[in-house]
Amino acid sequence: MYNGNPNITICDHPLVQHKITMLRNKETGTNEFRTIVEEIAMLIGYEALRDLELEQVEVETPVQKAMCPVLAGKKQAIVPILRAGLGMTGGMLKLLPTAKIGHIGLYRDEETLQPHEYYCKLPPAIEERKIFVVDPMLATGGSAVSAIEFIKQRGGKDIAFLCVLAAPVGLEKLAQAHPDIKIYVGCLDQGLNEKAYIVPGLGDAGDRIFGTK
Ligand code: PRP
Ligand code: URA
Repeated sequence: MYNGNPNITICDHPLVQHKITMLRNKETGTNEFRTIVEEIAMLIGYEALRDLELEQVEVETPVQKAMCPVLAGKKQAIVPILRAGLGMTGGMLKLLPTAKIGHIGLYRDEETLQPHEYYCKLPPAIEERKIFVVDPMLATGGSAVSAIEFIKQRGGKDIAFLCVLAAPVGLEKLAQAHPDIKIYVGCLDQGLNEKAYIVPGLGDAGDRIFGTK
């Protein structure tokens, strides 16, 4: 819960906080960074999947038959915002191995800070799926707001957004633009610097995941 909004979850789990500190450290190299982003995605994903529906099936244990819960067959989609969202996709897929994957290509213009779309491909029957949009960074919020608009324009309805770090301004912008979605944040940071980087942040997530600069 953030600012009384039940759709926003800020993860306060010590493991998430510990791993985010490792990401923040500028000495953390690409390989380790990538592994930790994936682990954090699993931990945040665990929280985001809390309300998955269950159904009862009969199972024969070594002792007796019993009706036991299994995940109901609702279809899912994981949608990374390229590029950095790809870093969280493997972690989410470990939790939801049968999910389909969509991609939204957006980059933030360094001058105007406006998001530009260059790719969008979503799985079929997107309107029937529970959709998990992933991107490690929610800074001004422009990229996340646009990505979710694209998904809604293509029929998506049941949408959650997962990020590792958020700035308060971006979180509020996303929650206002899309009050119907659930938002899961690893850590809420202090704010943005003059280049709209999250502070204290972890730098450029895409560059650190892919080893580019
Ligand atoms: C980063 C990040 C988000 C966006 C957040 O991507 O992964 O998509 O910036 O900023 P915003 O909230 O102000 O829109 P970037 O545009 O750097 O592209 P990349 O993932 O290809 O590096
Ligand atoms: N995108 C990033 O990768 N890092 C930030 O701090 C802000 C946007």
